Amino acid sequence: MRLPILMIAALLLPLAACEKAAEPAKPAVVEAPAAAVAIADEHSYAEPGKVAVKHLALDLAVDFDKKSLSGTATLDLAWKDTTSTTLVLDSRDLTITKIEAGDGTTWADAPYELAAADALFGSKLSINLAQQAAKVRITYSTSPDASGLQWLTPAMTLGKKTPFMFSQSQQIHARSWVPLQDTTQVRFTYDAHLTTPKNVMALMSADNDPKAARDGDYSFSMPQPIPSYLLAIAAGDLAFQAITDRAGVWAEPAMTAKAAAEFADTGKMIDTTEKLYGPYRWDRYDILVLPPSFPYGGMENPRLTFVTPTVIVGDQSLVSLIAHELAHSWSGNLVTFSTSRDAWLNEGFTSYVENRIIESLYGKERADMENVIERNELKAEFTDENKDLQPLAVKPGVLKDPDDNLSGTVYTKGAWFLQFLEQRIGRAEFDGFLKAYFEHFAFQSISTVQFAEYAKTNLLDKYPGKVTQAEFDAWLYQPGIPDTAPQTASARFDAVDQARTHWLAGHMAPADIDSAKWTTQEWVHFIEGLPETLTEAQIKQLDAVWKFTGTPNGEIAQRWYPLTIRSGYLAARPAISDFLARIGRRKLVMPTYKALAATPDGLAFAREVFAKARPGLHPITIGSVEAALADKPATATP
Ligand code: BES
Ligand code: ZN
Repeated sequence: MRLPILMIAALLLPLAACEKAAEPAKPAVVEAPAAAVAIADEHSYAEPGKVAVKHLALDLAVDFDKKSLSGTATLDLAWKDTTSTTLVLDSRDLTITKIEAGDGTTWADAPYELAAADALFGSKLSINLAQQAAKVRITYSTSPDASGLQWLTPAMTLGKKTPFMFSQSQQIHARSWVPLQDTTQVRFTYDAHLTTPKNVMALMSADNDPKAARDGDYSFSMPQPIPSYLLAIAAGDLAFQAITDRAGVWAEPAMTAKAAAEFADTGKMIDTTEKLYGPYRWDRYDILVLPPSFPYGGMENPRLTFVTPTVIVGDQSLVSLIAHELAHSWSGNLVTFSTSRDAWLNEGFTSYVENRIIESLYGKERADMENVIERNELKAEFTDENKDLQPLAVKPGVLKDPDDNLSGTVYTKGAWFLQFLEQRIGRAEFDGFLKAYFEHFAFQSISTVQFAEYAKTNLLDKYPGKVTQAEFDAWLYQPGIPDTAPQTASARFDAVDQARTHWLAGHMAPADIDSAKWTTQEWVHFIEGLPETLTEAQIKQLDAVWKFTGTPNGEIAQRWYPLTIRSGYLAARPAISDFLARIGRRKLVMPTYKALAATPDGLAFAREVFAKARPGLHPITIGSVEAALADKPATATP
């Protein structure tokens, strides 16, 4: 299984190549969108048109020895189709021991059928009810290999004393720990009762209480309706530190102070976003710092963003991750895409909002640098082979695995589209449009077509002469980057480009480059612009001054190590081995694994390192690395 955020091999191309790849094919005819109909979610067995889950009550024991959650899930049902008496749920690798139907007081066994597992979608669970019951209660336990959970032994944690577990439900992994309608088209409220060993603190994407007594018995309530991919749980030796009165961090005790310092601007970020787009609707905003095996940068679990510790680099240079996950509180958690084909409505809007937060807090220069880095990545990612994944609105049937979306499309092209609209319409007007959009579709799931209809009325027709329908549609329905795309220049990157050119030409030693004030973004840009390979002497020269090899900064490491590998610089191998053993964030490790896999000797080394790292890795990262190291890697998308 390959996933969007790891399509980073593309980053390895030098900038010159990126620019060449930028030329989009100009669409001859702009294709009209299909009419707005209730669009089925290809990635779920659920039939929300017949019956929808309105509320979920979980009662689960967290068992670290068995690496399992076990107990009951009770679903409150709203029947829509008067004739239907079958409830179809999604599940994956669950052991189901009993299913009952009832009204909450009396229960009767209900017959059910668990279909053979599909590799991507799991097992369809059909519950045959005698009548349209108000509630269904399922007694079950999860598999130690549940795709949506990772179980860490104490040795794999910072404190080394307490085990740790966490979920990652997006995109379709909630079904591996709760039997439910695993589609963004259904929203439900939930409550939960969890038991854990006494020394363990449990948290959920719900009303976590910073002052909760740590006693192994926890209750949660989530009054705002959420789609299943936002269901989240974590348990371990977790302590809280406040940032403001409505924001704080949870982390292992040795990490809380560092995390609170790194994320000190979170309160300002919330205030800024509220000013732009209306109130934060989720009560508290806390951040949970996970162990380094967390497979993503961040996950926007409501009220409790999950983040990788790899962004805690000491200078707040990677806090756009927090801006991003916070932004999802509007784009994604409040207004949700209705099928994975519309994922850009989540990630593109969020990347746009993220960039606005960064601009507002840290200035336009920083926002521009981040835009340039992302757009270069996008240009490199778009090839002739993945054209069908380049329109923002992917066609039905194209996206087999919902995790196979191109990140360049959904994140960067999505954000770029909104930046285009903002520039043409005017910032104040566009801000008003987005604020009204979040309000209009709050707590709903929508498709690209619904967005387009809303935008036609409230943007194109309201501000005539600014953007034509054809220009608008080209972004949504055509591959490549439309030639209406606004360009951004970065003076700070120009200086980096100049320094790099001088050094490569032998006119300047690294020590003479004025890099004292460079932040992660400048280092990333410097490395990305280097040629495909360097000589050993050049690598040593850079390392002698800047110590890229062995860097604690994952954004630098993920770009530097592949360059050393392509250059045949074997001296970096011990550092690479440490890096791959320490970090499980897919986006950071995959480019290095892929670069290694390009030669037989590199592949052998990668397999050795992976064998050692594997016990500490998340199932999602394991799947990606396995695919990259397989004899015949799948090549549907790069
Ligand atoms: N919601 C995503 C993570 C995700 C996307 C998980 C698709 C599963 C399927 C999250 O908000 C995200 O975008 N994370 C990025 C952060 C970045 C763009 C700042 C990541 O993890 O790299
Ligand atoms: Zn996101």
